[in-house]
Amino acid sequence: MTATVPVQTASASYDVSIGPGLLPNLGDVLKSHAPRAKRVFVVVDSGVPAATAQPACDAIKDLGYSCEALTITPTEQAKSAESWYLILRAAAEALLDRGDLFVAIGGGIVGDLTGFAAAVYRRGVGIIQCPTTLLSMVDASVGGKTGINLGSSAGLLKNAVGAFHQPLAVVADTASLASLSPRDYRSGLAECVKHAMLSADFGDSELHTWMTHHEDQILAQDASTLTELVRRNVAVKAQVVADDERETAAGDMGRALLNLGHTFAHAIETLEGVSVEGATESCPITHGEAVALGLVCASALGEELGHVADLTDRVREQLTNLGLPTVAQGLPDSDEILARMAHDKKAEAGQIRFIVPIAEGRCRVVKDVPEDAIRAALNTIKPD
Ligand code: GLY
Repeated sequence: MTATVPVQTASASYDVSIGPGLLPNLGDVLKSHAPRAKRVFVVVDSGVPAATAQPACDAIKDLGYSCEALTITPTEQAKSAESWYLILRAAAEALLDRGDLFVAIGGGIVGDLTGFAAAVYRRGVGIIQCPTTLLSMVDASVGGKTGINLGSSAGLLKNAVGAFHQPLAVVADTASLASLSPRDYRSGLAECVKHAMLSADFGDSELHTWMTHHEDQILAQDASTLTELVRRNVAVKAQVVADDERETAAGDMGRALLNLGHTFAHAIETLEGVSVEGATESCPITHGEAVALGLVCASALGEELGHVADLTDRVREQLTNLGLPTVAQGLPDSDEILARMAHDKKAEAGQIRFIVPIAEGRCRVVKDVPEDAIRAALNTIKPD
């Protein structure tokens, strides 16, 4: 019931190990990847139960490493220069040296923060990523993107500072998913739907069909289905990253495709007062819920631009079956959403690029999108 996906990029090769019950064997992974390391600095997500994190720390100590740990509460505000500096200071206090290791146990925020600390500490030390959320297993922990948010007078700029720093290994213990709230688990499924919308160009033209046939098992978190879900999604991400590690590909392909739905999602999730249909307590929406809404918009944009037909209803159906939203409440006027998208792009000093479906399982990067088409796409997630 375990699987291994190799990741091979221009700068590094490593394995993603997937399956239930892997964290208590973390010591063996450390031994094989950093035989000369003496000290390990572990950053643990406060959302990870002690029953998940402690066996991992015990496994590290049992093999004779000195092991210090720091807990971080994972909010977008805490994904900050202050938290990053706190990790660096604590690692220095623990006398971490060049050949020593960082370990991140948690979701994407803790993985990105710790990865960025590892990228710069003593000009770069090794890190083992141990994702414990579905979102971080299938996306954030793989591919070496690390970073923090930056406050600005115009609001929080997400991932504005960071580095590419590939991990030495990724250990995805799928048993840790059982401790997520149903909402957080479902939020990770949005990234799986995203992968299924682009996977045909990256070695898996059947991901959408497989997910459709296994919706019940996915929602029930059946153990072998979870391993296969994570394995297939990581394999797609690994192929995208192998082709374009630093997102520098020219043209309409490359790692930028992983931003499918995210141009809309980043704008939606940073707006005040947006919630998902029928659940007033769901404000603020999660990143995964915003991605789900963004995928509906991206599909509708693909249709508006004439690249694809009849896809939006299909995407809506899959999201709904997986318990994800397709309609948002409390959205402001489209002018405000467009202004937020433009603000993000100004921060990147770039032109707004959208990722749109061109066929089942295939997407492309498009530029110079008419504003009317974006407005029409946004209208598809507004209540009737
Ligand atoms: N999560 C998007 C990427 O890794 O490029």
